[in-house]
Amino acid sequence: MKLFLDTADINEITDLNKTGMVDGITTNPSLIAKSGRNIIQTIEEICGIVSGPVSAEVTATDYDGMMREGARLAEIASNVTVKLPLTVDGLRACASLSEDNIMVNVTLCFSTAQALLAAKAGASFISPFVGRLDDIGADGMKLISEIAEIYANYDYSTEILVASVRGVQHVVDAALIGADVATIPPKIMSQMYKHPLTDKGLADFLSDWESTGQSIL
Ligand code: G3P
Repeated sequence: MKLFLDTADINEITDLNKTGMVDGITTNPSLIAKSGRNIIQTIEEICGIVSGPVSAEVTATDYDGMMREGARLAEIASNVTVKLPLTVDGLRACASLSEDNIMVNVTLCFSTAQALLAAKAGASFISPFVGRLDDIGADGMKLISEIAEIYANYDYSTEILVASVRGVQHVVDAALIGADVATIPPKIMSQMYKHPLTDKGLADFLSDWESTGQSIL
């Protein structure tokens, strides 16, 4: 399973990239706004840190505008993935950009039917927002299961990029289903390492080792 970070914060990306666990980055207009920085400069800097796919989202809502913005974002770096909303114009632009060999991440997916259309449009990635579905009492992981089943039925190459992740269990559940990618907030990637019994076990090992008075070196 690939793990992407869902952030535009350069410091968070730099720090967690050192773990070797960061396979890509996703951003969106809200994350760019939160960074307080220029989108072009931010995406360029991120692409210099992470070699995997870096999603940068258009803000136009019409086909022509999406194509112009998508081309501008794609020319920043070869690992830029253009993010497009799951709308009629978004999927038209997805098909056109994909034909031009530009990676496309279709975002704001909330239904299985939408995910089917994104695969037919040639999306590189589909981003179902599991957390936002859970937030309204729907079953986000059921959506992931259905998408995985349909994509397998037709051998679609579109990768399932589980987004809007609210906790470690979302990552585990997505992996159990066989989703290709989970994009996760930095704090959740850090939480994936943590277990109280690991901390206690290590403390106990080190305490017992100290009592030996030995040193390995
Ligand atoms: O970036 C796409 C998605 O991960 C956003 O998640 O937390 O805003 O629902 P969230």
